[in-house]
Amino acid sequence: MARVLIVHASKRGGTSEIAESIGRRLSERGAAVDVVPANRAHRFRDYDAVVVGSALYGGRWRHAAVRALRKLTHLSQPPPVWLFHSGPLDELANEPQPLPGRVFDLAHDLGDPQVTTFGGRLAPDTHGFIAKAMVRNGKAGDWRDQGAISAFADEIADSLVPTP
Ligand SMILES: Cc1cc2nc3c(=O)[nH]c(=O)nc-3n(C[C@H](O)[C@H](O)[C@H](O)COP(=O)(O)O)c2cc1C
Repeated sequence: MARVLIVHASKRGGTSEIAESIGRRLSERGAAVDVVPANRAHRFRDYDAVVVGSALYGGRWRHAAVRALRKLTHLSQPPPVWLFHSGPLDELANEPQPLPGRVFDLAHDLGDPQVTTFGGRLAPDTHGFIAKAMVRNGKAGDWRDQGAISAFADEIADSLVPTP
């Protein structure tokens, strides 16, 4: 059974839910999956594939996700890596967003893994000054696309070679 680690960094929970959803799908497809917040991720070399996902804030990834990615670059033989980020709150939600510069460099060190953008979610009763201003500007909503999330998980599942 292939082992997959899904590492996520979220602020308001939307990205964590995407990670859980990817994990459920991969489990259904027969993988042994651990879904772990990025600040608790370790033992990367125990896995056949690692997924790292972050929420986007101000065009950046959450620090914990960047740190997890950096740890992967320190392995002599990193497992295959898949990246996603979640953020856009409009009809362009599934348009690919660029990786922030530092993340781009780390991803390059890992062989330029596939990067997938998922729409984000902003609750109408969210906390935070800027977030509340975004709600007033009509940005509240859930732009996550379950079909796209499942398709991403299926691509990973299709790539996995079962281990005894
Ligand atoms: C202050 C703030 C800044 C944001 N900046 C970005 C951004 O730069 N790019 C983007 O695509 N989405 C941005 N978003 C949308 C969030 O990425 C989106 O709400 C996402 O689902 C948050 O994930 P989380 O619930 O896991 O924290 C921003 C949201 C807030 C509240």
